[in-house]
Amino acid sequence: MPLLPNPSERWNIRAGRTPGLLLDVRMAPHQFLAVIGAAEVGLFDALRDGPADAASLAKATDSSPVGIEVLAKVLVALGYLDEEDGRYALTEVSAKTLPIDELPAMAAFLKEGVRQSLDIARVVKENPPGGVLGWGAIRSGEMALGYHALMRWLASSVVDEVARRATFPRAARRLLDVGGAHGLYTMALCRKYPLLQGAVFDLPAGLASAKQTLPLNSDVSDRIELVQGDFNQDELPEGQDVVFLANIVHGQTAENNADLFQKIGRATTRRGMVLILEQVPDVPQTQLGKGIAAIFGLMLYLFSSGQAYPYERLTGWLEDAGFGDIKRQELRVAPGFSLVSARKRPR
Ligand SMILES: C[S@@+](CC[C@H](N)C(=O)[O-])C[C@H]1O[C@@H](n2cnc3c(N)ncnc32)[C@H](O)[C@@H]1O
Repeated sequence: MPLLPNPSERWNIRAGRTPGLLLDVRMAPHQFLAVIGAAEVGLFDALRDGPADAASLAKATDSSPVGIEVLAKVLVALGYLDEEDGRYALTEVSAKTLPIDELPAMAAFLKEGVRQSLDIARVVKENPPGGVLGWGAIRSGEMALGYHALMRWLASSVVDEVARRATFPRAARRLLDVGGAHGLYTMALCRKYPLLQGAVFDLPAGLASAKQTLPLNSDVSDRIELVQGDFNQDELPEGQDVVFLANIVHGQTAENNADLFQKIGRATTRRGMVLILEQVPDVPQTQLGKGIAAIFGLMLYLFSSGQAYPYERLTGWLEDAGFGDIKRQELRVAPGFSLVSARKRPR
């Protein structure tokens, strides 16, 4: 959780009196390391059953008592843990929202991503096709497991707001979730619209994630189909009333996006619509939202030559593919994330 400066500290940072660079180059990387370290030694797991002091935590995590205490104190400062009388505990929010079982897998993926991205100067100078990791790196194995655990956790945090804000025509019967992975959005949307049949379209590792979540959502799972495919190689299944894309556009080059939107145009029915969840950096939003959207852009540029594309670019692809009536809203629980909808233009 971020360290939040109070108004006067913020003022001093903005005025250059506080060395803000320190927050970026010394604090932020060590915040990352503290969470990764805790995940790897099993610190959160060791606190799952209740508070413990540093000595018991050291034993439970097979760590040095000094090391575990240094780490625990940072996690207290960041809001992951509480400390009282030398005993540490998960905060209420950590207990409710931390994906403790998934954290070690997520940590492995996150670390590898950072390790590869340390070559950033070269990537900025040369713009290598496919970025530094690329989709090939997460097609299988540990990297795929960690990546998809991260996607599931992120989606579980924002899915309620997305489903609440999504509005489909009453006649909508078929929804295609392109790159839908875990399928959590499809499930929530099918729950909201009881006549909807959903399909999750993804690569095998994405569908493996859906196979984990489907049995936990038995109220809608029989309305959801898993479709294996590559949206850059294959056509999308036709006859869709709604095509949903969450966090897909940012991971692709502009050329691939232009093609993908044409496919979406062909896959949707005459009155079909598209719903997109993306980080759009240039729409009116808070400074945090703008920052998150821009950093997502850098992250995806490094990852796979993607970008957080400007709003006009997104609307241009939609219009070229036959969509109009384009609307946009910003999410509250996820600053930097916008939900964009568009309807097929009558011919
Ligand atoms: C950033 S994740 C988004 C997952 C989900 N939509 C969400 O927002 O949580 C991107 C997804 O697109 C899938 N994907 C990437 N390239 C693909 C391709 N060429 N064809 C099909 N799926 C692809 C990945 O497997 C992954 O599940």
